Amino acid sequence: MTGKIEELLARVEQFNAKTAAEVEEFRIRILGKKGELTALMEEFKSVAPELKRELGQRLNALKNAAQQRIADLREQVQNAASAAAAHIEDKSRPGTAEELGSRHPISLVKNEIIEIFSRLGYTVAEGPEIEDDHHVFSALNFAPEHPARDMQDTFFIERNPDILLRTHTSSIQVRTMERQKPPLRVICPGRVFRNEAISYRAHCIFHQVEGLYIDEGVSFADMKQSLLYFAKEMFGENTVIRLRPSYFPFTEPSAEVDVSCSLCGGKGCNVCKGTGWLEIMGCGMVDPNVLEASGIDPKRYSGFAFGMGVERIAMLKYGVRDLRLYFENDVRFLHQFDSAL
Ligand code: PHE
Repeated sequence: MTGKIEELLARVEQFNAKTAAEVEEFRIRILGKKGELTALMEEFKSVAPELKRELGQRLNALKNAAQQRIADLREQVQNAASAAAAHIEDKSRPGTAEELGSRHPISLVKNEIIEIFSRLGYTVAEGPEIEDDHHVFSALNFAPEHPARDMQDTFFIERNPDILLRTHTSSIQVRTMERQKPPLRVICPGRVFRNEAISYRAHCIFHQVEGLYIDEGVSFADMKQSLLYFAKEMFGENTVIRLRPSYFPFTEPSAEVDVSCSLCGGKGCNVCKGTGWLEIMGCGMVDPNVLEASGIDPKRYSGFAFGMGVERIAMLKYGVRDLRLYFENDVRFLHQFDSAL
């Protein structure tokens, strides 16, 4: 019997309740007419006289503990209920704050680039991420043996005929030239894919914004002026640009565009590696072969194209040193870009 008393005492001490109904149910189960303690009392009547003293004391202690526990729980449950009621009634209580999301820094910068060029009359054009060889390479004057057509550089979905993930959004420019007659002025944002090992400065998925302007008499000087306008709007009024000769299959002549380092003002720091300049995009005059491939007369029309990586612009603008941060979606990183944009 000692064992039963001990066991019930342990359960009484551990019992917890959230509602008054639960406390009452417990009371009946232990102290009620058919309750467990009542049954023990009954059993007590028939124990040997020499055990009565000790067992009687234990039973009494159990009964007191049960009554005390029930009283405590009743009080506790009641307090909780009135606190909850007071909580509801207090209309001056501050509301719970809604956690607001924020735009991803890549979206912020992409939107800003689009906005700047839309002020120059560019409209947004979009296209598919899964493309064919024609729109990504052939129509853009890539030679058949160009390394970008290699599995090492491009993700192929099917071969012969080739279906692949676009490696640049120049494919959208081809689609625009095929569909529309000049004058053309489009800006082409989108995700692009390249078969690169992921590191702090390269990723196999990234974002580009490319642009294309075709009309009669469009010159290299027009391009320089448009890109200077962009650089000043993006990086600040005092920004200057320089163009370095470069090569792309689809433009001739071609150039890389550098902006003066906005962090050191061109004096040289560790972000611009002491040069005072930061490379931000490629550009050039659309190659006559490209115009012709899309049915535009190169004798009548000329144009320029440019393309930039959004991650790169965002890194320079915000001083982010590791490209991978843009893809990990760590809220501690993302919350630094909270913005109304
Ligand atoms: N398509 C080029 C790239 O992905 C960028 C570019 C666009 C260069 C237009 C020149 C003209 O790197």
